[in-house]
Amino acid sequence: MHSPERRDPYFITTPIYYVNDRPHIGHCYTTILADVAARFERLVRGEAVGRPAGAPGGVFLLTGTDEHAEKVVTTAAEKGLTTMQWADRNSAAFKAVFEELNCSFDDFIRTTQDRHKAKVTEYIRALQAKGDVYLGDYESWYDVNDEAYVPEARAKEQNFLGSSGKPLVRRKEKNYFFKLTRYVEAVKAWITGAGAGAAGVEPEARRNEVLARIEEGLDDVPISRPITDDPATQFGIRMPDDPTHRIYVWIDALFNYLSAVDTPERSRFWPPSVHVMGKEIIWFHAVIWPAILTALGRPLPRLVYAHSHYTRDGKKMSKSLGNSIDLETIRAYTGRYGVDALRWYLVTQGPLHATDADFSHAKFVEVYNADLANGIGNCASRVANMIEKYFGGVVPDVDAAACGAWWEAENSPLLSDLARDLRGFDLAAAVAAAKSVVTKIDGFIAEQRPFTLAKDMATNGAAVARVLFICAEAIRIASLLMRPVIPTRIEQLWKTWNMTPPAGVPLAELAQFAGPHGLKPGHRIAKGEALFMRADPAEAPPTPVA
Ligand code: MSP
Repeated sequence: MHSPERRDPYFITTPIYYVNDRPHIGHCYTTILADVAARFERLVRGEAVGRPAGAPGGVFLLTGTDEHAEKVVTTAAEKGLTTMQWADRNSAAFKAVFEELNCSFDDFIRTTQDRHKAKVTEYIRALQAKGDVYLGDYESWYDVNDEAYVPEARAKEQNFLGSSGKPLVRRKEKNYFFKLTRYVEAVKAWITGAGAGAAGVEPEARRNEVLARIEEGLDDVPISRPITDDPATQFGIRMPDDPTHRIYVWIDALFNYLSAVDTPERSRFWPPSVHVMGKEIIWFHAVIWPAILTALGRPLPRLVYAHSHYTRDGKKMSKSLGNSIDLETIRAYTGRYGVDALRWYLVTQGPLHATDADFSHAKFVEVYNADLANGIGNCASRVANMIEKYFGGVVPDVDAAACGAWWEAENSPLLSDLARDLRGFDLAAAVAAAKSVVTKIDGFIAEQRPFTLAKDMATNGAAVARVLFICAEAIRIASLLMRPVIPTRIEQLWKTWNMTPPAGVPLAELAQFAGPHGLKPGHRIAKGEALFMRADPAEAPPTPVA
């Protein structure tokens, strides 16, 4: 159950976010997904959140901000601030909201930090030393909002408009190029899983798109931008030995994944287990990044996972379109329903796979009531109430091993399914499995009717004890599996039921039904407060909190 492979260091990253504006729900979505995966991995290994970085084994979650973008300079100027004042302010806003949302990142990197800048220069020098960099002429369409060059054919398809709807601009300049074309075969082998130990790109729809685009033909890619009198062109890391060029923001940004762990204490985290991101930036991660890593002789990431987008009225939600769920709205939701409720909704209903998803208030309330208030919340409170009423709040004395038969029959492949779901980054499936335990407990109660049996305790006492023991023990296991998504409420339940699991014990042991860490007869369970108050479906969405 607990293969040694699962104890390998686990390194998970989010994109680093642009600091030209504040965070919105899309950024929070990605970071919450990465957090949930990191928490599942820690759970499997029996590691506490907040383990000191550098401890053996381990899980490392990296997030941060991407700062050397032209639009950071121009927006700061519009606001009457220096570029770094504006970058500091927005970077702090990303960090703060991720903390508020209980994201357990181990490091928050900023590309303006010296530790990153020094490494980027080293990496570019290494590429130069390999003969993979040359100075050439470039002319192309450019999407200023995305900080990305757009090839002619694609520009035509988009009617010469960028993703934000603003016209593409024509750029003609001298650039340093990276010999991407040298590494196409290596990249293709990695994507299709033919490379050494590689898993490549998921979901499949994204993998196929990337492969199809590679087949259209690749050119070498610019990795620098010329510096002019325009201050927007002066913000960035200088090209080694050529102060007239700065490193292209995308190349600078990709290197964050490496620079953050390229130290003696952290180097064991390389290669990344998974880079998580939105589908719009998959090209950089699935083609350019692995090519650069191959050139540098570094092992390639095991998985590049690109989820889809949150939309509003079918349009991508974005800062530039001004249609996003902003920080104020996020805080309105967490204020009314709790941080855990928002995390649950995003992870179970979000655009994890190949299709986009709308953020819908009606759906939010429906899922909140079904899964949380009427789901785990109500299930735990019913069972605690019955244990209180029939057994004085104490887990009844039963033949625990015999009770395990129900669990085995209903739930036994749970942990191997979880391992599979985590490997493929199918967090929705991992969470659905946890939820299904609660559904089965509800079904078991409906079928066994302990409340009816209890009318004659003299005759049925042992049967009631058996049913409630099974329910309580199954809730304990469900709570372990739900904790990565709804940590605060599960910790509340653990306190009430007096069953906080010991640190350092892997899931395979903790989750053994009636095993060494199971609930024992005589264990005291309190009723406690409701985990989730039911929400009124007719209630209007919460008002944004300024
Ligand atoms: N700075 C680059 C990434 C560099 S990574 C080496 C960037 N930043 S961004 O601020 O635009 O953030 C983009 C990421 O935010 C997406 O890839 C995705 O993870 C998340 N999302 C932004 N909008 C989103 C939605 N509408 N829906 C879901 N996720 C979204 O690109």
